[in-house]
Amino acid sequence: MSYPNCSKRSKHGEIEKEEAIEKEVAVSIISKKPVIKVAAICGSLRKASYNRGLIRAAIELSKEQIEGLHVEYVETAALPMLNTDLEVDGRFPAEVEEFRQKILEADCCLFASPDYNYSVTPIVKNALDWGSRPPNVWAGKAAAAVSAVGGGRRAQYHLRQIGVVLDLHFINKPEFYMNAHRPPGKFNVDGDLVDSDTKEDLKEIMLSLQAFTLRLQGKC
Ligand SMILES: Cc1cc2nc3c(=O)[nH]c(=O)nc-3n(C[C@H](O)[C@H](O)[C@H](O)COP(=O)(O)O)c2cc1C
Repeated sequence: MSYPNCSKRSKHGEIEKEEAIEKEVAVSIISKKPVIKVAAICGSLRKASYNRGLIRAAIELSKEQIEGLHVEYVETAALPMLNTDLEVDGRFPAEVEEFRQKILEADCCLFASPDYNYSVTPIVKNALDWGSRPPNVWAGKAAAAVSAVGGGRRAQYHLRQIGVVLDLHFINKPEFYMNAHRPPGKFNVDGDLVDSDTKEDLKEIMLSLQAFTLRLQGKC
């Protein structure tokens, strides 16, 4: 898993990331709270995507304010368009294998996406479809959906519907969608969330996802 829009992935950075995860695990062992790993998927490939900005904010919030929750961004841009001819001898293309492994390792998923023409974006659908190829890597996981645009709630309902066949269990409440395009601006020019009320709403989602994941796993 990598940090959104982090093009420089130095070895030093990787070590720092590993140390940060180890620290979180150590803290959670002391407090006896299991660390929940969240795989965050963005439904937009746009560089300054508001939805990816929500994921960056969720990563920061979890790091600073939520004990036992570790959010990591999972890149989907390199996934080929689904084509079962690309599956050879039960193996997937390297990018797909890597993606599927990251989902398998996660306890739950966070989808941050706009709607494209009232439904899920092809980026999300392609990722869902690759993950659904047997064995289905989504099965039994908890999930939450957020949208930086109001229309995104329509995509969220379609996403929940797809979750039925994938055995992916979405939190019902709270719901999260906003209108990033409506002034006053809640994101800066780079697509970073800067509005404190929205950050609070996002924190509520993350807490709800954490609680639901623990419940689903029988850990609380
Ligand atoms: C192909 C396409 C279809 C879209 N369809 C809708 C739509 O149905 N309803 C809506 O509110 N916005 C729609 N939009 C606008 C996006 O929601 C908006 O551009 C959003 O900011 C994209 O998310 P991002 O900032 O994460 O890239 C569409 C955009 C594209 C590119």
